[in-house]
Amino acid sequence: MPTSAILGLQWGDEGKGKLVDSLSAQQDFCVRFQGGGNAGHTVYPPGGKIVLHHLPTGVLHGNCVNVMAQGMVADPLKLLDEIAEVEKRGLKLASRLKISDRCAVTTPMHLTLDAGREEGETRVGSTKRGIGPTYADRYDRIGVRMADLLDDAALKDALERAVSVRACQMTAQPDIKAMHATLRAAGEKLRPYICDTALLLAEALREDQRILFEGAQGAMLDVIQGTYPFVTSSHTTAAGIAAGSGLLLAPQDVIGVSKAYCTRVGDGPFPTELKDVRGEQLRQKGGEFGATTGRPRRCGWIDLFALRYVCRISGVTRLAITKLDVLSGFGELQVGVGYEGWQQPGLPADIGRFAALKPVYKSVPGWDEDISKLRSLNELPANARALLRFIEDFVEVPVGIVSVGPEREASFFSEGAPKG
Ligand code: GDP
Ligand code: IMO
Ligand code: MG
Repeated sequence: MPTSAILGLQWGDEGKGKLVDSLSAQQDFCVRFQGGGNAGHTVYPPGGKIVLHHLPTGVLHGNCVNVMAQGMVADPLKLLDEIAEVEKRGLKLASRLKISDRCAVTTPMHLTLDAGREEGETRVGSTKRGIGPTYADRYDRIGVRMADLLDDAALKDALERAVSVRACQMTAQPDIKAMHATLRAAGEKLRPYICDTALLLAEALREDQRILFEGAQGAMLDVIQGTYPFVTSSHTTAAGIAAGSGLLLAPQDVIGVSKAYCTRVGDGPFPTELKDVRGEQLRQKGGEFGATTGRPRRCGWIDLFALRYVCRISGVTRLAITKLDVLSGFGELQVGVGYEGWQQPGLPADIGRFAALKPVYKSVPGWDEDISKLRSLNELPANARALLRFIEDFVEVPVGIVSVGPEREASFFSEGAPKG
């Protein structure tokens, strides 16, 4: 049975949640393998809009088992709120949500550390969800893990270890007793969901179950491949799937998601950014405001050079181009096809060099028609189809899915492409 993945190819918010929602009706398992509450995946199911942060988007489909695998970080308090919000819609999660006992836990101390960093010169414009400090503690071997929340002594030890190392970075000392009480109480509420998810997934694979991996953030935010240091702290490319889920596997179908333009929220260079009225037009028309923090997203043209680079890294087998409807009425469009004086196929590792890159654009004719109600590729205006063809030829990956609206049904598949 094929395993598949939906991964962001830009700086996040490409519309991954919407596509996972469309495809997870046909899946047995939906797995988040990295990131945490920094994600904001917007979906429009029958009960109205919902934004998922920790929970895999498959929670909205009763048939699907949802796994928060070991590569994730989780804030137990926010996670409980999210579970309650989903269950309020009549969706029962008791047997359908599995949280890895190895997930890294964000404590109030991590939130304070993240907020503190964001006030200083080394800020990256984080979501302030404690992601960086939580991952840092995992790799510094002083992290709190989900399993610790289930035992008084284990949690006390874990908190004392973390605080003993981090206290010197904080002005006020973290209250271990208060954190212990809050996190232990949360642990008891989460107990029914906590298990060894790597084992569960290995069994699912053996039984030929259909597994969809839901990426969070995007390739340009990958902690190694992305625009370091203006990145998140996890592996957002396909390479993150194995360690993040505990399975040695490369999904057969890797769907890479890109907007028909590009956005970025938070700090860091963005070569094709539009700082003029056209950027503002994209923001307003595309509703480009962060799903997690509400911050206005920076907007610009699609960067096909960067897209080709990250597709290679993640072994993307088909592209999903979202928000094509937003480009209607923009007149002539630009697509980034390279950078002045930059001859190599990859991107510079040095952020100073990346920031200095001046994009080379190709102009392509736009279209005026409203395409948001269209439901097949053939109905698209000729110029929209030509743009999609140009993208797939340049990136050397076929466009398999096109999305023209936020609703579940507002996406369509190229002929012969798998629907799940
Ligand atoms: P994610 O983090 O990748 O899941 O994306 P977000 O939910 O943060 O941001 C994508 C935004 O675009 C959400 O508000 C979606 O409802 C919306 N969206 C997704 N696909 C489309 C599309 O094809 N057209 C339009 N107009 N909106 C879309
Ligand atoms: P989804 O899954 C867009 C950005 C932040 C910041 C950087 C580091 O919805 O696409 P962090 O809080 O992770 O330490 O912040 O990464 N960022 C995202 N941007 N979409 C996301 O998730 C993001 N998650 C983190 O804005 O620039
Ligand atoms: Mg988002």
